Amino acid sequence: MKQDRAVGTWLLVLACMVFGMVVGGGHARTIGAGFSIQVWRPFTGFIPPLDATDWNQLYKLFQQTSQYHAHPIDMAQYKALFWPMFLDRCWGRFMACVFLVPFAVFLIKGRIQRKLALWLGFIFLLGAGQATYGWYMVQTGMEPGVLSPPPAWAAPHLMSAMAIMFLLLWTGLSLRNAEPVRIEGATTLRVFSTATVALIWVTMGFGALVATSGALKVFNTFPSMDGHMLPPDMFGQAPFWMNFITNKGTVQFCHRLLATITALTALTTAVMGLRMKLPPVTRDLFLLLGGLVSLQYVLGMATLVLGNNELGFVHELNAVLLFASAIGARHGVRGAVAVPAGALAAG
Ligand code: HEM
Repeated sequence: MKQDRAVGTWLLVLACMVFGMVVGGGHARTIGAGFSIQVWRPFTGFIPPLDATDWNQLYKLFQQTSQYHAHPIDMAQYKALFWPMFLDRCWGRFMACVFLVPFAVFLIKGRIQRKLALWLGFIFLLGAGQATYGWYMVQTGMEPGVLSPPPAWAAPHLMSAMAIMFLLLWTGLSLRNAEPVRIEGATTLRVFSTATVALIWVTMGFGALVATSGALKVFNTFPSMDGHMLPPDMFGQAPFWMNFITNKGTVQFCHRLLATITALTALTTAVMGLRMKLPPVTRDLFLLLGGLVSLQYVLGMATLVLGNNELGFVHELNAVLLFASAIGARHGVRGAVAVPAGALAAG
């Protein structure tokens, strides 16, 4: 990839905007606003309701959701749910503009070559797919008995958002530092860094299952699960695989187990990185990785023991920062090479 710091910075800004989207989505989940807007107008939806007729129309649609049937709310309460969700969706549209306008400018100026243009077009399509998926998830609110976005929808939604953030960060960092720094003897560190990125991603997916299946409200003890090693009735649901999506005890157990494996791997990676001779920025990223994963684990335990939804939101946001730091650290060692045999013999 040809070095272009401006194009790289633009992609990093977009990655930060994905974080903003998680802030909005996570907040909407925390206050139960996910189903509040039952219309999708991709191009005109940035216009807010302007008069009582507009509001009544939106409120009437919300009244058809199962959430409303289970917990009826008045117009004032509805508006309190509407605005955060509205802003989150506007943020998504704003992101599309922040993508498309500079993309067109860079393309016209010849700063983006064909291969990169296709690659960025692909990332944009993923973003558009993410938005469409989000809309279908919102529509599940019209199904009987569905009171909040279901785990089987929400977990892939978070994971794909993180995949998009990964692509933006990786491409942006590669454009800003096109020539990988050659780091001798860091191939094992590179493997550990890759494993850390993958493990954080999967752990986040299970975190989303915990958050959306209501598993925060069961087994609020750590490390035991109400005195048990494993949750009773771990495989009580049929079919078997369903337990890994909707069985509260099972998803919580999987999240704890994966989180522990992830934390140990990330800490080992951080220590390995700090013990090596690395460029200062990369070294700092390994330090950040160690710090953020420790904080993440503590936040997770506190969220669980206190059964606190808001702390869960902080835990979610920290996970995104942790994921980004792991990607940055992994990117920093992409030029790792084995120690040349001659150097080993001399040593
Ligand atoms: C590397 C470590 C960890 C990562 C990457 C991680 C990631 C996440 C993420 C992304 C979420 C939120 C998903 C969403 O809101 O859609 C979440 C939720 C949650 N996590 Fe973790 N987690 C980690 C460690 C832990 C630990 C150690 C515990 C407890 C012992 C824990 C307990 C929880 C709980 C209870 C929730 C649900 C919060 C809620 O309902 O608001 N996590 N996790």
